[in-house]
Amino acid sequence: MKWHSAAVALLSLCNFQAEAQQIPLQVEDKRPNIVFILTDDQDVHLSSLDYMPLVRKHILEKGTYFNKHYCTTAVCCPSRATLWTGKAAHNTNITDVNPPYGGYPKFVAGGFNENYLPVWLQDAGYNTYYTGKLFNVHTVENYNSPFAAGFTGNEFLLDPYTYNYMNSTFQRNADAPRSYEGEYVTDVMAEKAYGLLDDAVHAADNKPFFLTIAPSAPHANIQMNGSALDPEQTLEFSAPIPAARHRHLFKGVTVPRTANFNPSNSSGANWVLELPQQNQTNINYNDHFYRERLRALQAVDELVDGLITRIEDHGILDNTYIIYSSDNGFHIGQHRLQPGKSCGYEEDINIPLAIRGPGVAANYSTDIVTTHTDLAPTFFELLGIPLREEFDGRPIPVTKPTIGEERRTRREHANVEYWGFAGGEGIYDRQLHENNTYKAIRIFGPGYNLYYSIWCNNEHELYDMSIDPGQLHNLLSTSSSAQTSSVNGLPIPKVAARLDALLFVLKSCTGGVCRAPWKSLHPAGDVWTLADALAERYDDFYETTTRVEYDFCSNGYLVEAEGAMWQTSGRMFYRGGLRWDAWT
Ligand SMILES: *[C@@H]1O[C@H](CO)[C@@H](O)[C@H](O)[C@H]1NC(C)=O
Ligand SMILES: *[C@@H]1O[C@H](CO)[C@@H](O)[C@H](O)[C@H]1NC(C)=O
Ligand SMILES: *[C@@H]1O[C@H](CO)[C@@H](O)[C@H](O)[C@H]1NC(C)=O
Ligand SMILES: *[C@@H]1O[C@H](CO)[C@@H](O)[C@H](O)[C@H]1NC(C)=O
Ligand SMILES: *[C@@H]1O[C@H](CO)[C@@H](O)[C@H](O)[C@H]1NC(C)=O
Ligand SMILES: *[C@@H]1O[C@H](CO)[C@@H](O)[C@H](O)[C@H]1NC(C)=O
Ligand SMILES: *[C@@H]1O[C@H](CO)[C@@H](O)[C@H](O)[C@H]1NC(C)=O
Repeated sequence: MKWHSAAVALLSLCNFQAEAQQIPLQVEDKRPNIVFILTDDQDVHLSSLDYMPLVRKHILEKGTYFNKHYCTTAVCCPSRATLWTGKAAHNTNITDVNPPYGGYPKFVAGGFNENYLPVWLQDAGYNTYYTGKLFNVHTVENYNSPFAAGFTGNEFLLDPYTYNYMNSTFQRNADAPRSYEGEYVTDVMAEKAYGLLDDAVHAADNKPFFLTIAPSAPHANIQMNGSALDPEQTLEFSAPIPAARHRHLFKGVTVPRTANFNPSNSSGANWVLELPQQNQTNINYNDHFYRERLRALQAVDELVDGLITRIEDHGILDNTYIIYSSDNGFHIGQHRLQPGKSCGYEEDINIPLAIRGPGVAANYSTDIVTTHTDLAPTFFELLGIPLREEFDGRPIPVTKPTIGEERRTRREHANVEYWGFAGGEGIYDRQLHENNTYKAIRIFGPGYNLYYSIWCNNEHELYDMSIDPGQLHNLLSTSSSAQTSSVNGLPIPKVAARLDALLFVLKSCTGGVCRAPWKSLHPAGDVWTLADALAERYDDFYETTTRVEYDFCSNGYLVEAEGAMWQTSGRMFYRGGLRWDAWT
């Protein structure tokens, strides 16, 4: 029997007795398992979970739903890199889906293939399994140069077939890629997931396991022409494709007509503010796109049902956490946007997170703020592995008492960042919108519910989402159409100055500074929230601090584009080297 260090440590207490009795030790590692289901582009605000009765039954009703869960970069590859490393995109520098700023090659070049979650889990004595999409530009050509490290068993979905619902290619362990042309991808993946679960349960070394299932649904279908490594390749986007048995569903269902759906006045900033209103033909197509997403999610719903039934049959349901999330959200028509993601608006960043498992409250939901930087630390904590100092997030409490405690102390914001392009995924407006580079904060607290952003052209946005949940009235708009001059009774410039300073720290923070950013601004430790920072005695301080500012728009994280930077020494420097001392 193989031993691993954690089990040995746990057992050291009874070693003496065992030796004395000369009994060969046959002790099983009783640590819990994790099954992580990670969908692709699944929204909260288009109500997709309302159309997944089996996910609701097995996970939401048996577990806890985190309704203020946020991704920190609203596009697949950067968001996944954050998930698997516990670091914000500005610390992985994986900021795009494709090279040179992102994709599997950038992940490998950054040294992360030796230093990310599955490797750490194996080091801690876990078996690790994965099926589905790992990263963009993980292809039939580069999957073995090098192989993705850290997996006991894998069935990766590879480019250029990752988003091809009826023509997928999977790659098992060290085997050559295999095509499943003509088969429905989510059904193929379900069989692979059940197989990996069997392998995990029957592993000869009896180790606990971490199994990830990463379906491509409800992402758009993409026909890639040629190699994903070829920068000249052409892509053809279309609505996601449901399994044949689900094609008839949801006739007449349309995108929720919220206030920000195709509004009569344009909204947002930068290129979003320039978008034309969509005509009825376009709206009809987008409603069709929406229905296809809901239909494509049905096979995922069934997969989850099949998985949980099998986990139960294996007798391990009581010792397994089941976690459901997505890489980023999605918009269809809000702010006049064509189907897609990449924006900082609520539809793109607020994403599903539901957890069931030992000690997790059933049928419960919480509004504590959690982000994708928190997931790696959360997995560590659930599995009893000591946290890494480099983590930019902190563990998410999963029991009612710990959630209750953290409601008082947990940070109240999500830090959102983006670099590069945004593109529509429907059939209308297929141009890439450049300069979609911005930084933002989403923040909640007693009396405030705000979104603050700065774009690379230095346009600013501030939305008071307690009265403007659709983010239609930018309080910092230069066109002065904004009616209000205060937020929660406070002058807008006063609130914006605090948010800007917080963002200034967050934009280049690492580790502990990301986890407790107000502490950097107020080293005495007397400010932990925006409410604390709004105290009048800090007015001078905030009015005179350096502002977040871009020097130009870049498609990746280039320090020279990003203005003054917070120094980790706890001091701040103006551009040009002039020191700012009042800060400390
Ligand atoms: C699947 O992809 C291969 C390779 O691109 C192509 O030759 C084949 O026609 C595709 N099949 C379908 C059903 O799209
Ligand atoms: C695919 O690539 C070939 C060769 O470059 C080109 O002739 C063809 O038009 C492309 N098809 C699409 C749909 O882009
Ligand atoms: C649209 O803009 C006009 C002009 O600024 C303003 O009077 C009107 O109230 C706005 N409509 C909405 C729904 O915000
Ligand atoms: C509707 O808008 C789309 C996208 O701008 C355009 O291509 C199409 O021609 C328009 N159709 C009608 C009937 O105006
Ligand atoms: C879950 O809670 C809701 C109310 O919050 C209730 O209506 C529903 O019956 C509960 N479901 C279960 C399975 O307990
Ligand atoms: C994008 O940003 C670059 C650099 O800041 C600028 O030169 C260019 O004009 C911008 N493009 C658009 C469409 O705004
Ligand atoms: C991020 O990666 C890009 C592309 O490799 C590189 O040009 C840039 O300097 C990197 N940024 C940082 C902050 O290291």
